[in-house]
Amino acid sequence: MIDLPARDARVVWHPYTQHGVEGPPLPVVRGHGAWLELADGTRILDAISSWWATLHGHSEPALVEAMHAQARQLDHVLFAGATHEPAVRLAESLLAVAPEGLSRVFFSDDGSTAVEAALKMVLQSWVHHGEPQRRVFVALTGAYHGDTFGAMAAGDPEPFFGAFAPLLFEVRRVPADANELARAFDELGERAAGFLLEPLLQGAAGMRVMGERFVQAARTLCTERGVPLVADEVMTGFGRTGELFACLRAGITPDVLCLAKGLTGGVLPLAATVVTEELFACFLHHERSRFFPHGHTFTANPIACAVANASLELCRRRDVPARLDAIGRVIREELRPLEHDPRVRDVRQLGGMAAFDLVVADADRGYLSALTPDLRRRAIAAGVLLRPLGNVVYALPPACTTDDEARRIGTVMRELVAGMD
Ligand SMILES: Cc1ncc(COP(=O)(O)O)c(C=O)c1O
Repeated sequence: MIDLPARDARVVWHPYTQHGVEGPPLPVVRGHGAWLELADGTRILDAISSWWATLHGHSEPALVEAMHAQARQLDHVLFAGATHEPAVRLAESLLAVAPEGLSRVFFSDDGSTAVEAALKMVLQSWVHHGEPQRRVFVALTGAYHGDTFGAMAAGDPEPFFGAFAPLLFEVRRVPADANELARAFDELGERAAGFLLEPLLQGAAGMRVMGERFVQAARTLCTERGVPLVADEVMTGFGRTGELFACLRAGITPDVLCLAKGLTGGVLPLAATVVTEELFACFLHHERSRFFPHGHTFTANPIACAVANASLELCRRRDVPARLDAIGRVIREELRPLEHDPRVRDVRQLGGMAAFDLVVADADRGYLSALTPDLRRRAIAAGVLLRPLGNVVYALPPACTTDDEARRIGTVMRELVAGMD
């Protein structure tokens, strides 16, 4: 196990990783609760829920048991022309807790495909409605919605997707400001297809928090203009903002809700694009060709669905949104001394997310900042897994994190600032 990084370096290509610059990856041999254990026995606190996915904790027994039980019963079956109990139960359970007014669940594999399916559904529905010119989505500056082609187009091309820019479809980009959104709709007129946003909290953009008022205004504007509101809750879903869904916190129902990451408690890949009956009905027709031509091999995989059912049950039983909110508050409290520190800006918390920006030169801002690898290395050396987004230092730990562990996370975040001198 000790030579894992060397073997890895010979044969593996890692995601979002510059192999020419970055050091060897962490050799992780075990995950338990909020902790990851490395090959040499070192233990580190997973303060970012392993890419915002791990919801209850690593190797949560209830989820492991659900996985085993389902694998013994039915491991996989195609989902076109066949169905199974775990998927139907999951759809029923999701609709019972989702914002009222959503009524159909389309399963896919991960956050990018949840968004990809949402965009395709909306665009195809406009064709069915006889308005094929409605092809331009409005989306937020800095948005990240995944890295398949549609999701890349919906996301801000900076800092990742410049190489593909000529191939991406047109998207009108606005800041989180109701007047700007209204102006975008005015300018697009009958070309507007819909509005896509990460409600309340833009993750990869730098843990940007927006007001509930903007989300509510966006809902009103979309209704007035007759275009769908697509909420990407791939990151915010399942309690991260202190409510089960950010849309619930803002008191709105989107026309389309995209879920992934925490859907299975962050254990297996599974996503859901949840829509209104109106959108579903728009695909019902006597001609087969009007169906929705989308679906991957492992759509609604029974094991993933069984784990998701167990995870939803834990969310309810343990009140995960409230626990995440409490953890976020403990970290925020630990960050209080930074409030008047000139090296820091915008200490903030929303639910289980706590963050601040380091005051740095322009060149050191953004995801690709040279600052990031060093901050990451120092945090890991202090026993906490953090992945700052450029100059944005944040934590988003799993719900099993104890108050002591949360304080430890906050302390290490604070120490990163002290180390800047
Ligand atoms: C808001 C949001 N949407 C979509 C995605 C893409 O999800 P995935 O990486 O599972 O494809 C992410 C990933 O971080 C995300 O944060």
